[in-house]
Amino acid sequence: MTVRSSRSQDHIILEIGDNGCGIPAENLSSLFDPFFTTKATEVTGDEPVGTGLGLYMIVRRMEPYEVEIKVDSKVDVGTTLRLHIPLTRSPETPTP
Ligand SMILES: Nc1ncnc2c1ncn2[C@@H]1O[C@H](COP(=O)(O)OP(=O)(O)O)[C@@H](O)[C@H]1O
Ligand SMILES: [Mg+2]
Repeated sequence: MTVRSSRSQDHIILEIGDNGCGIPAENLSSLFDPFFTTKATEVTGDEPVGTGLGLYMIVRRMEPYEVEIKVDSKVDVGTTLRLHIPLTRSPETPTP
């Protein structure tokens, strides 16, 4: 995995990348939906079990900070998530 940070004029960009299985294009639009998982939903031997709440929780936790999350993924190559974290928040945003 690679973790990298950089900054633009008004954002910090936190990049988290892996060289795992990648995400098929048809799953990209569901990725952040609660309970969307491609893993087993109950324990059956050694298969990884998913809840489909991992990315959903990240989105919800980042919402108050107006963080934008971008996904860049290629099947069999890997996935990179980029969190675009604004350096200042809109005045109307409630304090988390
Ligand atoms: N880094 C990744 N590489 C490949 N697929 C991923 C990655 N992160 C998420 N996914 C896909 O998105 C789905 C939802 O992820 P997540 O919300 O973390 O739930 P869970 O891990 O419980 O399945 C996963 O089941 C998987 O299909
Ligand atoms: Mg997960």
